Amino acid sequence: MKVLVTGVTGQLGYDCVRELEKRGIEVRGVSSRDFSLTDPVGMQNYMEAYRPDAVIHCAAYTAVDKAEDEPEICEAINAEGTRQLAMICRDLDCKMLYISTDYVFPGVGEAYYEPDDIKDPCNAYGRSKLHGEEAVLELLEKYFIVRISWVFGINGKNFIRTMLKLAETHKELTVVNDQIGSPTYTRDLAVLLADMVQSDKYGMYHATNEGVCSWAELAAETFRQAGKDVKVTPVPSSAYPTKAVRPKNSRLSKDCLEKAGFKRLPKWQDAVKRYLKEIKEN
Ligand SMILES: NC(=O)c1ccc[n+]([C@@H]2O[C@H](COP(=O)([O-])OP(=O)(O)OC[C@H]3O[C@@H](n4cnc5c(N)ncnc54)[C@H](OP(=O)(O)O)[C@@H]3O)[C@@H](O)[C@H]2O)c1
Repeated sequence: MKVLVTGVTGQLGYDCVRELEKRGIEVRGVSSRDFSLTDPVGMQNYMEAYRPDAVIHCAAYTAVDKAEDEPEICEAINAEGTRQLAMICRDLDCKMLYISTDYVFPGVGEAYYEPDDIKDPCNAYGRSKLHGEEAVLELLEKYFIVRISWVFGINGKNFIRTMLKLAETHKELTVVNDQIGSPTYTRDLAVLLADMVQSDKYGMYHATNEGVCSWAELAAETFRQAGKDVKVTPVPSSAYPTKAVRPKNSRLSKDCLEKAGFKRLPKWQDAVKRYLKEIKEN
């Protein structure tokens, strides 16, 4: 089996390549240096030359606030780029695994979202990722759509890294406590994604580490485990106005994983522990 992973210079793509290599699967990781998602001809030429059996599509425009100022660029990469890639996958009879986000949901209430629940993104990034999903659903039969949230991994910036950096200069931090979701360690997720592309259990999935928390709880747990003496004061989102609205409820139901015979990911506190160890070792 031959797998192409987009977004290798990002958090998730990097770990997907590492996981597939570990399994002895032939894999190639690509970034915008190899082809841009906004360049259909370059993408087609690359794909026709490599001819993968599966694509794990991690690459995306991920600057959520900036997307409010340049929604066309975000849409061109996340929606149109995904549509082009899906068309090529269809022509090459190649499986496609598209990474999506909790941001496709309206993010209200307290219930866990099931994969088929009503979509209504509250920002431009979320809309572009939803349009990417729609393209995959429309064009492909051999697809996986995997919605994830609150990502952290060794190869990039993320909330935990930011908290550790702030701990160097702060004894007290205010962090929002009215957005609830599940952190996702890319190293854990990569194991599941590799299992998926090696299977033919196509469909729509949610995948995050187990358990839910607020950003304030994630910060406090990070400091506790890292042995940092930083006091976390919980505040509402209104104390931190951002250009893009964030969903308050990012609870994703993962029952779909068990139903398909996939294993759920470990608890988020355990993932944080292993991530801090990984940072230390690097
Ligand atoms: N981060 C989160 O909290 C989060 C939450 C939910 C879902 N997701 C989704 O999870 C996936 C992985 O996220 P991540 O945090 O690993 O992303 P990331 O670290 O921001 O990396 C983004 C990747 O996309 C590539 N890329 C950007 N624009 C491109 C273009 N025009 N053509 C080709 N490649 C391009 C980048 O390559 P270059 O280095 O070449 O620019 C980079 O490798 C994304 O699909 C994202 O939407 C993320």
